[in-house]
Amino acid sequence: MTMPRAVSDLPVLDFSSVEYRSAPFPVLSGWAQKWKIAQSERGVELLDYELCRNAIVDRNLGTGHPRLIELLGLPEGRPLEYKRNSISFHDRGDRRRDLRRPLTRLLSEEAAESFRPDIREVVTEIVDAIPTDRPVDLISSLCDRIPSAVYCHWVGAPMSDADFVARTSHTVQQVHTRDPRHTPAVVEAFETLIDYVDERIAARRRTLGEDLLSDLIRAEDAGQLNADDLRNWVIKLAEANTDNSSHQIAIAIIELASRPGIWTQLGTQPELVPRAVQEVMRYHPRTISTSREVLSETELDGVALPQGTPVFANVGATHWNAEYYSAPEVFDIDRTDEPLHLNFGGGVFSCIGRFIVTVEVEETIALLAERFPGLALEATGFAHSPMFTSVTQLLARLEPEDSQRRAMPSRYAAS
Ligand code: HEM
Repeated sequence: MTMPRAVSDLPVLDFSSVEYRSAPFPVLSGWAQKWKIAQSERGVELLDYELCRNAIVDRNLGTGHPRLIELLGLPEGRPLEYKRNSISFHDRGDRRRDLRRPLTRLLSEEAAESFRPDIREVVTEIVDAIPTDRPVDLISSLCDRIPSAVYCHWVGAPMSDADFVARTSHTVQQVHTRDPRHTPAVVEAFETLIDYVDERIAARRRTLGEDLLSDLIRAEDAGQLNADDLRNWVIKLAEANTDNSSHQIAIAIIELASRPGIWTQLGTQPELVPRAVQEVMRYHPRTISTSREVLSETELDGVALPQGTPVFANVGATHWNAEYYSAPEVFDIDRTDEPLHLNFGGGVFSCIGRFIVTVEVEETIALLAERFPGLALEATGFAHSPMFTSVTQLLARLEPEDSQRRAMPSRYAAS
């Protein structure tokens, strides 16, 4: 019988190298060719598709969120209390299932489809307001605005709140840096967000409408949620929504508009947009890894993992693994029979907003490609952490014609 290996025997990955930070996917893919499992400063790293997918749904791997918050050192107070009671701190079991149920229903694939006309209207209004005679910062004028406007729509708030919603989401998501220097700003942003959410809920209780918050209040009235759970969900939706969605919308614009052939095709054949968006989420996902923690001592790929070991499923490595995706470094919107990307995790921890954000990205790309076949990327920038892809710059000119097209090559434009 072979003895399981110890974590300390595993190869050590360095996410701080210049190579990783500028182009992580070839680096992750190279690591995955050598090892299925490794270690890093933050914990155990899974690099193989099968291993990651199994870990994501493994009953013996629980949420990594409590440890993250411990690392940040959030002081006692309302933000920490919110975190402790929110979905993120709950492991598998009835409580997690009951908490998720109303939200998975209200944000299901069918519900997201029924929101599509509203989302199209939101995207159209936002795009209509962008000047076309000069380069514009599409992060603030478009990518941030879409998910934050959708959130305002959900909670019956005026669109003038969208900037606050976007800013707050970007700040509170800094917990994922695992860097306590961000803690004071995170705490302050949560304090303001909690007050905001309390006001919104009180206002909506007075007059119910046809929005998500009103539906959640109805779910509370029907006994499916209590008042604290309702409040925690409305905070959670603000927390998780804008930051992730804005970056993924920006990534999609850069990856697609930097390929003139594909951009033109999407402008005339909108039915191709969903496939193109799926390929963006495989090729250049917002999520590079998702975290878990070992609930009781276990073994993964012949490695003994003590209770409490942080485990990271490296989604980015799986998406660029040639055993699962043929020529993974090639951006190919015609891929059909390959496994689903893992950008939204999976199982009982899977992303609640996955359908809605997919509709947001699709509607944005469909409208931009149709209206602006000459969309010119003037300056773009990415930052990659072990956890996320972030877009740091997206300056573009919305050109109605493509005659003066000045597309910038993508950092990943291998195809
Ligand atoms: C492209 C944008 C987004 C990406 C890439 C993303 C990604 C993820 C990932 C990777 C997870 C963890 C899944 C796992 O570990 O199995 C997650 C969880 C979650 N996401 Fe998203 N997300 C996005 C947008 C959204 C939006 C728009 C919402 C809200 C409507 C949302 C709400 C949530 C919530 C509530 C969870 C926690 C679920 C739980 O613990 O049960 N996300 N997301």
